[in-house]
Amino acid sequence: MEYIDLGVRNQPVLLFGGSYSNAHATKAMINWATENKIADDHRIMTGDAVAYCAHPNETIDLIRKSGAAMVAGNCEKQLAIDAQDCGCGFEGGSLCNLLSVGWYSFTTSLLRTDLRQWMKTLPDIAIFTHQGLRAAVIHGGVSDIARFLWPNSPQSEFEFEIKLLQEYVGQIDLVIAGHCGFAFTRQIGPVTWINAGTIAMPENRGDPRTRFAVLERKAVRFHYLDYDHFAASQAMRNAGLNQGYDKSLVDGYWPSEEVLPADLRRERAIG
Ligand SMILES: [Fe+2]
Repeated sequence: MEYIDLGVRNQPVLLFGGSYSNAHATKAMINWATENKIADDHRIMTGDAVAYCAHPNETIDLIRKSGAAMVAGNCEKQLAIDAQDCGCGFEGGSLCNLLSVGWYSFTTSLLRTDLRQWMKTLPDIAIFTHQGLRAAVIHGGVSDIARFLWPNSPQSEFEFEIKLLQEYVGQIDLVIAGHCGFAFTRQIGPVTWINAGTIAMPENRGDPRTRFAVLERKAVRFHYLDYDHFAASQAMRNAGLNQGYDKSLVDGYWPSEEVLPADLRRERAIG
């Protein structure tokens, strides 16, 4: 595991994840950060800069230009080595797997060589200190970069990942994660697990807004990102990415719920 220490970040820290090649959402996120005076070096991203949407190169360029520090997501790991799939671990033949094949081949055919090289330089873990709290930023899990830790996953699964993480980086107070697509916090003994959510895909409850987090004076607060999701969706269809995620940007529901625990599925959202 490669990790970097970003040092001290005592001002409000923007925490966001999953920009998924959605340049519209990414631009809105960066504009929000600028309007709210989040310093360039206080912006931290949990990975998966590219995935489902239409603008992989533009999205990465926006993030890099914004000054945000970033850990690798499974998408960056896979694209960096020109792998055949996104490495999400979807079962062969599943709808999730079929959907990922569509965007992944689109992304890999467009991705600039310099960005593929840049992906190879991304760390697995980033450490920083905020107001005396030591935080570790990861993507999914430590045992598996693409591990899904949901808001309602068993406590033991979080404990396992925290123990492993501390073997690499020492004592921590906060974990900042991404990957699963839901923003949440869980208190796991003395450690607060924060999933910063994804800015480019809604949380499967019929609301097209996405979420991100700000860590300020030791407390985390989630915010909604309201951006031009119609334009992002149209850009996907213009690019031939019309397999279902284009609709998700507008109606707020995932095209497949196969990977989701029962409590996070649509029936729960409607009922
Ligand atoms: Fe991921």
